[in-house]
Amino acid sequence: MDQNRSGNGGGGDEQTEGSSGAGDQNEELGQDDPRNISHQDEEHSAAARGAEVELSPEERNEVKSAAPHGGEIEDTPEWPAEESEQDEARGEDGEGDSGERQRESSSRVSVSEEAAPRPEPPSGVSDDEYKWHTYKVYPSGRPDAVEFIDLYKSFGRADILRGLNMGLPEGMVSMIIGPSGTGKSVCIKHMVGLLYPDKGDCLVHGQSVPNMPDDDLFDMRKKFGLLFQDGALFGSMNLFDNVAFPLRQHTEMGEDEVEDVVMRRLNEVGLGSALTKMPNELSGGMRKRAGFARALVLEPDIVLFDEPDSGLDPVRTALLGELILEIHRDMMDEAKEKQKEHLPTFCVITHDIMSARRVADYINVLWKGRIVEAGPAEDMLNSENPFIRQFLSGESQGPLTMD
Ligand SMILES: Nc1ncnc2c1ncn2[C@@H]1O[C@H](COP(=O)(O)OP(=O)(O)OP(=O)(O)O)[C@@H](O)[C@H]1O
Ligand SMILES: [Mg+2]
Repeated sequence: MDQNRSGNGGGGDEQTEGSSGAGDQNEELGQDDPRNISHQDEEHSAAARGAEVELSPEERNEVKSAAPHGGEIEDTPEWPAEESEQDEARGEDGEGDSGERQRESSSRVSVSEEAAPRPEPPSGVSDDEYKWHTYKVYPSGRPDAVEFIDLYKSFGRADILRGLNMGLPEGMVSMIIGPSGTGKSVCIKHMVGLLYPDKGDCLVHGQSVPNMPDDDLFDMRKKFGLLFQDGALFGSMNLFDNVAFPLRQHTEMGEDEVEDVVMRRLNEVGLGSALTKMPNELSGGMRKRAGFARALVLEPDIVLFDEPDSGLDPVRTALLGELILEIHRDMMDEAKEKQKEHLPTFCVITHDIMSARRVADYINVLWKGRIVEAGPAEDMLNSENPFIRQFLSGESQGPLTMD
């Protein structure tokens, strides 16, 4: 992600006047409308998961150590002292390793010291309020599958995204973390064109979502699998039909083929024997896994998880994290085997610091509508920035308070 990128101002008006977001819009669109992606929503609460998807410690280490580590940063910027705030925020961008998740973490690159000027705070806001924002971006070594460029979004007088620059590198499991109400779910809605920016742009595989004609937008949405924060399975359909729904809706597949795909996905998430159960017969964790299976049936390039762990106990949360990693790894293998144009990109929104530590290849920390710092998990977990340190360790002492 390039700190210097500038927006094309290509935003547009919100898709519906005074809209309240995905839910309302989907209600307006009706269930059969392809723009209605509410069927991909997921519901949250507690439950068990099949043990067959657990990773061994060795496998987990392999995954974690394979998380691409960006190029060596030559000159780590000082975390901003009061007097150095006008110093350049160094959004180092560089070419790191070539992007193989499994290997190639040894490639080191030098990053030039060319520094971008520190971005101005949003208008009417003191620089002091953004003093923890170093805007530092440790290189991922990958192109971004999704990119936010100087994106602004307000609801009435509430300014939520305030010049957001953020990237989700292709082929990685990224996390967006930040305090409640900072606009994480709003980000997701911009990616799929359910909300439009007031200013700035959101690119998916290089294409501007707000500027897409409707037909392209419908096609682009097929790239995504979504598990929304407050979603649910269709209560009137059994598990099989819930997971088959996107295939029946969006493809010409015959029922035999639908069954193959659905069974493969349900087995993957450990629900192969629960096909005929209705959603209210499933535990919360099972419903999450069912939603995960449903999000995968259209072979999305990008899977978005909005707080997949909310309502789960720590053990189920850990198991779900492992499932996410395992499925990502399988999808990576498949994408390479089939020589797909894009590697699978996952984006997980979570409050759970342990999940971030276990699952993330790449972490974006969002606060006050902008990224404080972003980069490969290892770099972020070693950040010197007190805000990042506090947030990633979940400590009560530090710059972040309840205000
Ligand atoms: N459609 C909308 N209309 C008006 N306000 C909205 C809309 N969508 C989001 N907001 C507001 O934007 C802010 C950010 O919301 P968002 O749901 O993105 O937060 P979040 O970071 O996901 O928080 P949490 O971690 O609690 O889920 C909130 O104050 C919310 O009330
Ligand atoms: Mg949210």
